[in-house]
Amino acid sequence: MATQEFITHSAEETIALGRTLAGTLSPPKLVLLRGDLGAGKTTLVKGIAEAFDAASAEDVTSPTFTLVHEYRGPQANLYHIDLYRIDTPRQLETLGLDDLITNNSILLIEWGEKFARFERERDVEIALERVDDREQRFSEPVSQRAPEGSAELIEEGISENVRRIRITTP
Ligand SMILES: Nc1ncnc2c1ncn2[C@@H]1O[C@H](COP(=O)(O)OP(=O)(O)OP(=O)(O)O)[C@@H](O)[C@H]1O
Ligand SMILES: [Mg+2]
Repeated sequence: MATQEFITHSAEETIALGRTLAGTLSPPKLVLLRGDLGAGKTTLVKGIAEAFDAASAEDVTSPTFTLVHEYRGPQANLYHIDLYRIDTPRQLETLGLDDLITNNSILLIEWGEKFARFERERDVEIALERVDDREQRFSEPVSQRAPEGSAELIEEGISENVRRIRITTP
């Protein structure tokens, strides 16, 4: 098992990482995208879809309600899938995801870890999380580096835009 770790500081950097990462993804692939709401899973897909000439970043939007978005490129068909609203195996069945798994396809699945089968079938797992960017500058835990009177320093260090992105290939 190999894990690579990246830090991004903006949505643009995450899109750029997605473009780079796309070079390592050749179909067929099943990619699990893990992370909390707003972690940046869909943002990463924007870069992947661009690199495959399958869609522009603006055209890639969250499949929260539609559940599956298809982006066709010359080398691969990408399926961006959001299982946040899918709870039962029966609901999952109705999506017919098995029909999407072909030699030519890359499935990019958000919230797929809700179902054991995707944990088993995944080729790549990408975990995104917000990080407090102070972590990069100090090694001690946050509580130890916030003595009273250091509010200014702390405020300067806080950013909403920093993400840690771990890519694991089993
Ligand atoms: N470094 C970053 N990487 C990715 N997104 C970032 C970053 N910094 C800020 N953002 C913002 O965070 C939000 C990420 O939203 P996105 O839809 O990609 O999350 P998501 O993980 O797909 O969430 P959901 O589970 O709700 O679908 C966007 O508004 C994006 O602009
Ligand atoms: Mg999303």
